[in-house]
Amino acid sequence: VNNIRVGVIGCGGIANGRHLPELKASAGGEIYALCDTDINALNKAGEKYNVPSERRFENYLDLIKCPEVDAVDICTPNYLHCTMAHVAISEGKPFCIEKPVGMDCDEVYRLKESADKAGIKSMVCFSYRFMPSVRYAKWLIEQGTLGKVNAVYAQYLKSSAFIEGRRLDWRFEKRYARYGVSGDLAVHLADLASFLTGDFKRICADTGIVVKERKRLDSEEYAPVETDDYCNFLAAMEGNASATFSITRCAPGNDNCVRAEVYGDKGGIRFNLNENDRLEVCIDGKMKLTMVPKEFFTTQMQEFINVINNKPDKYVPTLEDGCKCQKVLDGIIESVEKGTWVSIGR
Ligand SMILES: NC(=O)c1ccc[n+]([C@@H]2O[C@H](COP(=O)([O-])OP(=O)(O)OC[C@H]3O[C@@H](n4cnc5c(N)ncnc54)[C@H](O)[C@@H]3O)[C@@H](O)[C@H]2O)c1
Repeated sequence: VNNIRVGVIGCGGIANGRHLPELKASAGGEIYALCDTDINALNKAGEKYNVPSERRFENYLDLIKCPEVDAVDICTPNYLHCTMAHVAISEGKPFCIEKPVGMDCDEVYRLKESADKAGIKSMVCFSYRFMPSVRYAKWLIEQGTLGKVNAVYAQYLKSSAFIEGRRLDWRFEKRYARYGVSGDLAVHLADLASFLTGDFKRICADTGIVVKERKRLDSEEYAPVETDDYCNFLAAMEGNASATFSITRCAPGNDNCVRAEVYGDKGGIRFNLNENDRLEVCIDGKMKLTMVPKEFFTTQMQEFINVINNKPDKYVPTLEDGCKCQKVLDGIIESVEKGTWVSIGR
């Protein structure tokens, strides 16, 4: 059987941090082509992953339309995701898409509809779903280990807003990102909570900007930061669990601190989501460090290759999950604007 030849669009942080190394290590997949508008980023990734210069594209249309590219991996800033995915659909190619899937609910619904109509396979990169500890937790919850879930506490703390000299990159501008830490970080925890405990019913949020202005990328001029630096929210979940989420990029001392706890009437689970292979599980009243069994280990990009090869895992995040999380993101904005709880309808 031939390898799935993947074309990766966007050779920045997440492509280099996760997509490219995991694709390289995947069984049944290979990095065939790359695309970036930044020629340095393109060539650097090309050299590292031995992608010859004729398969390094500056225009994403050329990559998607390249006949040898079997599947498309979208790792660009938020505002480009759906546009690129629609082209993949019209070329009949499966795609994997970074989070947040789009710039608002409507855009994500339209993408889901087109993909469904054309019968194109896809996957959303809610990365924490692929963590062995999260998969094991899901299994434990399905086994009834926690009993009836009543609470979720989740935190995502970074200090990235305070990086010395950080300029106004795309993450700080509404037209490129729309959401700040809500779309960047909270969306992961929202997906995690709905994956483990069920859909969102209502939320009430508080968001804000701490570092109000930054120098532009290409000049010494200051411009306003437009996306949220922190995002705290409460949620009522289907099944009546109550959830709290604390997310910020303004917490010095935290490089990437991700924690989540889920409690039921029979037990609980506590994760440090930087530790792939372990979690704490409470059974009979005592929290116990537990190692994750081998069968729960996988990677995000291996699952993408498996989706294309008709071997999808039941835990793989879909565009439907993307729609659900986008509703939470838009609900956060609506709640802050109105200063009230808002319902997250179906
Ligand atoms: N799943 C996760 O855990 C995770 C983590 C980080 C980022 N992300 C998501 O991944 C996406 C990218 O984030 P990042 O941190 O890698 O950003 P980044 O800025 O480091 O990289 C984005 C790359 O896209 C390139 N690009 C911009 N416009 C392009 C175009 N028209 N055609 C081709 N390339 C283009 C840029 O030059 C850059 O190299 C975002 O949507 C982000 O939310 C997900």
